[in-house]
Amino acid sequence: MCGIVAYIGKKRAAPVLLDGLKKLEYRGYDCAGVALLFDGKLEVFKRQGRVEALEPARTLAGNAGIGHTRWATHGAPSERNAHPHRYGRICLVHNGIIENADALRRECLARGERFSSDTDSEVAAHLIDGLYQEENDLLRAVRRACGRLSGSYAFAVLCEGREEVVCARMRSPLIVAKGEDGAFAASDIGAVAAPGRQGCVLEDGEFARLTREGAEVFDAHLHPVRRTFFSLGDEEALPGKGEYPHFMRKEIAEAPSAIEKTLFEAEKHINSQLCEVLCQTEYLDIVACGTAYHSGLCFQYAAERIAHIRTEVFSASEYRDLQPVAMPHTLTIAVSQSGETADTLAAAQAAKARGCRVLAVTNVARSSLERAADFVLPTRAGREVAVAATKSFQAQLAALYVLCTQLAKGRNLPAPSLAGLAVLAAETLARSAAVEAWVPLFCEARSVFFLGRGADRCAALEGSLKLKEISYLPSEGYAAGELKHGTLALVDGRTPVVAVVCDEALADRTMNAVHEVYARGAPVFLVTPFEALARAREVTACALIPRCDPAFSPMLSVIPLQLLAYHVALACGNDPDKPRNLAKSVTVE
Ligand code: F6R
Repeated sequence: MCGIVAYIGKKRAAPVLLDGLKKLEYRGYDCAGVALLFDGKLEVFKRQGRVEALEPARTLAGNAGIGHTRWATHGAPSERNAHPHRYGRICLVHNGIIENADALRRECLARGERFSSDTDSEVAAHLIDGLYQEENDLLRAVRRACGRLSGSYAFAVLCEGREEVVCARMRSPLIVAKGEDGAFAASDIGAVAAPGRQGCVLEDGEFARLTREGAEVFDAHLHPVRRTFFSLGDEEALPGKGEYPHFMRKEIAEAPSAIEKTLFEAEKHINSQLCEVLCQTEYLDIVACGTAYHSGLCFQYAAERIAHIRTEVFSASEYRDLQPVAMPHTLTIAVSQSGETADTLAAAQAAKARGCRVLAVTNVARSSLERAADFVLPTRAGREVAVAATKSFQAQLAALYVLCTQLAKGRNLPAPSLAGLAVLAAETLARSAAVEAWVPLFCEARSVFFLGRGADRCAALEGSLKLKEISYLPSEGYAAGELKHGTLALVDGRTPVVAVVCDEALADRTMNAVHEVYARGAPVFLVTPFEALARAREVTACALIPRCDPAFSPMLSVIPLQLLAYHVALACGNDPDKPRNLAKSVTVE
């Protein structure tokens, strides 16, 4: 959450910062700001709202600067709370949460210092300013200030009169880059990637100093660290929307290619060392959040059914507090598109501390999760920009299903083939256009239910999450058999119900729930490969999708649900790429 960019070099800094911030806006879009250093003086420009509100700052002079796009944690989204925060000679941008901010703030207030925001971040500017007066060295002042902070941070700091940017990282991602045109720092490679530039990932506890001459990295004692910089080619840059009106729509369309590439890549990554661990594995724990958690649920269903292996799925945010009993030979699988989700990272680290091996399934190379894990199964969805995860869900399923078939193989169990799933996904996309006609009944709805049994329940949960996060309609995904144990009381004529029915063996039982909601007046929408069900009297409309093994069916059945959410969001007048209150890559707990 929150995006940081910093630059110093030959070019004017303002356009570099603004263009970088636009690419980082998926990390937060409550407010934004930049600070420029010109002739030794600092100029700050901040606005509530999106990065485009900073356009007037594009003409500001200065070859060094810092920028920020914010997802509010401490303090309301407002210009006052937008970064950069300035105190004395210091100006900084921060991503993370300073947990002891209140105590530090009280200290500053007792010294007579005044605050101009409600944020936890501003306290760091106060600390650094005080220490800079003692040290007369920005790097040392930042390091000493960081020694007093608890929590998470990625900082980029400017000081009046000094031609440098100092950066620090603790549990919040920060990339340092350099090229002929100068030195950069950013929360995400995509913001600074360009041909000819090179970058490295700062580790927790490290610092960096950016000057016109380049970027230097220092350890916690400020000893220089020799880093291998990797090339930031075009392939790391964030993509555009192409012919599509929104990133979300484009990313839904990219699912078949994400599936195909991930199936290919995941097979290559199951090396002999991982195979050995899989053969010894008796229990699987999945830790993940949101959509990735739903991928975990889909995998649980496939792993239990196909590989006969006991699998448990944990909300990563609950895992550490639950402290599940450590079973011997447990493999923990941490699933995360961004590889930076703080809760998933913390759960993976907790699992490691309990002696489990950790396998990361992530879409971002060199992410914190990838670097923390023992093994990696990469997903190859390509960059996902829309806040709502779509193609990354299917890519996660592709990687996890490869793992499932491998686990089955190691146990001499037959496993259904994964070949052809990408083609079926393309066919599903083509057939799902019909869901656009469903939209009016959803826009008028009081609330929506998504129902299913088995793997269909997992798809239903994901469909419901998609709808609620971008349309803001109250929505719940439910096990079809559970509905009558209380929740049926909520169903009436203004409660559309979407039933996912892809497993023939469970179809009759799921249809019982359909009869029950229909009897209460609910309009029923069906996602199924079974034509006979589509003709049922109770069904208002149906998305007829291709048939595949029921254990893998969420990969297909989720597609009409993603499209439905997209079209309902548009009809409600919402921006599907940037839903309110949310941000991609949740790097705070
Ligand atoms: C929903 C969504 C979120 C993420 C969740 C985990 O559309 O995008 O629920 O799935 O925040 O993010 P990652 O996968 O990056 O760990």
